[in-house]
Amino acid sequence: MKTEYEIKKDFPIFDNADFAYLDSSATSQKPRCVLETIDEFYKTANANVHRGTYSLSQNASNIFDDARKTVKDFLNAKFDEEIIFTKNATESLNLFAYSYALSNLKAGDEIVLSIMEHHSMIVPLQQIAKKVGANLKYLYLDDDYQISQNEIENRITSKTKIVGLSTVSNVLGTVTDCEKIIKKAHSVGAVVILDATQRVAHSKIDVQKLDADFVVFSGHKMFAPLGVGVLYGKKELLEKMPPFLMGGDMIEYVYEDTSTFAPLPQKFEAGTSNVESVAGLSSAIKYIESIGYDNIFEIENRLTNYCLTELEKLDFVKIYCTSQRKKHISVISFNVKNVHPHDVASILDSQNVFVRAGNHCAQPLLRHLGLHSTVRVSISIYNTKEDIDKFILALKKVYEMFKKYI
Ligand code: ALA
Repeated sequence: MKTEYEIKKDFPIFDNADFAYLDSSATSQKPRCVLETIDEFYKTANANVHRGTYSLSQNASNIFDDARKTVKDFLNAKFDEEIIFTKNATESLNLFAYSYALSNLKAGDEIVLSIMEHHSMIVPLQQIAKKVGANLKYLYLDDDYQISQNEIENRITSKTKIVGLSTVSNVLGTVTDCEKIIKKAHSVGAVVILDATQRVAHSKIDVQKLDADFVVFSGHKMFAPLGVGVLYGKKELLEKMPPFLMGGDMIEYVYEDTSTFAPLPQKFEAGTSNVESVAGLSSAIKYIESIGYDNIFEIENRLTNYCLTELEKLDFVKIYCTSQRKKHISVISFNVKNVHPHDVASILDSQNVFVRAGNHCAQPLLRHLGLHSTVRVSISIYNTKEDIDKFILALKKVYEMFKKYI
């Protein structure tokens, strides 16, 4: 089993680096194998996919189609065509909203989202709800930053047609109880869309075991390049959905005044695909599998616990984190009393510690918690105890600078 120190060496950005990168929830760093895959693609295989009859194009098409199989196996989906490549999770969520939600919702129907959702889940569905006269409801958190059983029972009703749920909160690190919520949603005939963006780098998503209807994620948060996302959907649902983006590669026949559409998955992949990033995503999945989720969990859980323990020793810090350690991964939000989170992040930056501060694209959650913003540390497999120590030391300096106001 590789240690975090060995893993760090797989990431060229850390060669001779003197910084602590603690913002992997915003984007992850890329291992050498992913960079090599991209380089190799342009050096040996670059051609447009699904268009050329010549061997170079067929080779590029094979790389693309093999990557779809890799993602299918990664998620344990049943069919290759259940995997749709998009540019990121946001585009996947817009595809779902403008295709599935728009054509299935009617006035009076309800969409239930957790209050922890990212704006990319909330905003497209808000727009669709306004268009069709549907209502949005939220699953709120209890005092321990969890969604209670009562909340699930009370909010998901016979009026609920769609449930949208992040599998891990990008602000709190709370792991949601997807199985329970999916079962409840299915018992009232609703479909569930899971935002797995903050989970895929950390723990397994098995779509068949979960019985998830739709799952989205971005590649760049799981060591893949920027510019590729995935929408998984059950085949029987995707087949009935209208296309979202129109153009080349998604059609069957085009006449002067009408068109027919290609079968899955092409129906949802208009235009030239981002083949290099799709190949990079496949390489990132193989990298994750070579490390193994058990090892990933061991490293991240140990470092997250260490970070929490060290933060808890600082009486000028308020942490927003569930006490249920089994229902939390990798992300820690906190504030320094009386110091603006942006000031904290800037002072940490001046000491080469990189964290995110702000509302984390989750304004409704922050409002629900009575906050405007937080400082957020997010931990990945290439972080080390030394990164956490550097962060804690830098945070103590923040305190030294501001202590007369604290
Ligand atoms: N959604 C990303 C984050 O949580 C950008 O930082």
